Amino acid sequence: MKRLSEIFAELLREKGIDRIGILSKRYRKSKNKLQDVALDVLEGKGAIVEVDESTAIAWDLSGKRTDGSKYAYAPSCMAKKFKVVVSPEELRAKLPEDYPYFIIDLMHWNKHTEKEKNKVALQVAQSYGVLKDYLWSELLVLAWVNEEFKKKARFPLERVTAYEGSTAGFLKEKGIDEVVLLDPRAEEVLSERDFDVRAFIIGGIVDTGGTKKGTTAKIGETLENEGIKVRRRKITLRGDIIGVPDRINHILKILLEMLVEGKSMEEAILTVQSPLHARWRLRKELPRHKRRYLIDGKKYLVVEKELFDEYSKWLNIRWEDFMQVLRELNLIALERKRIHHLNKISVPRIINGKLYRVILLKKD
Ligand SMILES: C[S@@+](CC[C@H](N)C(=O)[O-])C[C@H]1O[C@@H](n2cnc3c(N)ncnc32)[C@H](O)[C@@H]1O
Repeated sequence: MKRLSEIFAELLREKGIDRIGILSKRYRKSKNKLQDVALDVLEGKGAIVEVDESTAIAWDLSGKRTDGSKYAYAPSCMAKKFKVVVSPEELRAKLPEDYPYFIIDLMHWNKHTEKEKNKVALQVAQSYGVLKDYLWSELLVLAWVNEEFKKKARFPLERVTAYEGSTAGFLKEKGIDEVVLLDPRAEEVLSERDFDVRAFIIGGIVDTGGTKKGTTAKIGETLENEGIKVRRRKITLRGDIIGVPDRINHILKILLEMLVEGKSMEEAILTVQSPLHARWRLRKELPRHKRRYLIDGKKYLVVEKELFDEYSKWLNIRWEDFMQVLRELNLIALERKRIHHLNKISVPRIINGKLYRVILLKKD
């Protein structure tokens, strides 16, 4: 799937344009200039025009800064004075019609506390930002939108598809009869085979009190009762959902990194995983590696220090996170060669059904 900036670049290339400037001194700073300009054109805020004199600077079609150009983005008020070469309508006509909708299902809205509702609204607003980094905002659908949500939504709702009816109602209007429901409790893991659906559904759920376990599945049941085929899929990191951030906007970003950027699930998760989530997973991983020592009658639980390098390949952990988890689990990290040495000078013993390596250092 192409980013909006790529679709825009293709259109510019077709017109023989290989770079564009910007006729606005206060244009926002951004990571991906072409994506931002494309969004503004699409939203009818401006157009690409032919200018009489080259602009001072420009961006090429890969987004790199280059010398000036005879073509530039001009906000609507200025565009009128020039010859328009790419209008909002022209860009819109280039948008593929088979791109999926990303639906945030708000059917559980009333099960949330006031604080949780604010969090849902914030994460939805952040999802709007996420989608704009890759595609365009109308592909974001908010279903079951009510007045309370509208009041809490601090972003332009008219830029997304805000739907007051049910998700099933929206899908039927669009003729979509099969969806992927992202659900942490699904049996099956999301895979490329699922990328052919016309809609992905994320639960508009925040669960700070642990009172909404399994609520995502209810979204699936509701859809199935309406005759929609639902593929429930989970996102996992090396076989486990622990360590996968569960915020709505993070799940959307993981999905887009896979769909648009072609990243693997693991790579996609790493783009959003905070050290906090990484530590949760590390807490589950490290005990598997512990070895028990009994040194002069005192118990020590030891892991290899080198595990840090292994885990930091697929968990966003820093050395201090590794140390924090060791402390919490009462573990000691030693270099592999020191562990080998300890093994050499120890004798194995089974104590209470567990293997200990016993070392006597003190001589009586
Ligand atoms: C905070 S989660 C809500 C989870 C809810 N407590 C439950 O047990 O169903 C918000 C939404 O993010 C998505 N999500 C979170 N983690 C996920 C995962 N590991 N795999 C797939 N979807 C996930 C789901 O769509 C879910 O409805």
